[in-house]
Amino acid sequence: MIYGIGTDICDVRRIRASLERHGDRFALKILSEAEFKTWKARSARWPERGVRFLATRFSAKEAFSKAIGLGMRMPMTWRLCEVGKLASGKPVIVLHGVLKDWCEARGLSAQVSVTDETDYAASFVVVEQKEKNP
Ligand SMILES: CC(C)(COP(=O)(O)OP(=O)(O)OC[C@H]1O[C@@H](n2cnc3c(N)ncnc32)[C@H](O)[C@@H]1OP(=O)(O)O)[C@@H](O)C(=O)NCCC(=O)NCCS
Repeated sequence: MIYGIGTDICDVRRIRASLERHGDRFALKILSEAEFKTWKARSARWPERGVRFLATRFSAKEAFSKAIGLGMRMPMTWRLCEVGKLASGKPVIVLHGVLKDWCEARGLSAQVSVTDETDYAASFVVVEQKEKNP
């Protein structure tokens, strides 16, 4: 059954400004280790792609935080919620640490979709809960 849904829209210009002000420190606060590596590689090739990558991750993590009903409160943290990618290109939520434990204890799994266009990035997350055996 559906446990929760979450959505978020992120202003790409704000992400760009934060990156200009704080550089890698801002990216490190938002991104998991694996995401940070991808961000570094994309930014090196084309800085604007790095900005957009960070903006979609930012919005997906906020959308996930709403879908689980916590917002950005422990155990929900930016870096414990990773947005990975399947070979097909489909994004997937990969959880770590206490957030993973919290979701597993409740039988929760998530589906995510992200999009971006010019000045905005947006995400939608659906969280499902495994039915308990009768
Ligand atoms: C949920 C949250 C991430 C959204 O923040 P935001 O990007 O500034 O705001 P957005 O416009 O994207 O979303 C706001 C909407 O999120 C929804 N929302 C707020 N808390 C929520 C929660 N726990 N679960 C699901 N949705 C939530 C509300 O509908 C809110 O709209 P409303 O205030 O008009 O009802 C943020 O409100 C949050 O995490 N708050 C808790 C942070 C906090 O108190 N931290 C303290 C740590 S010490």
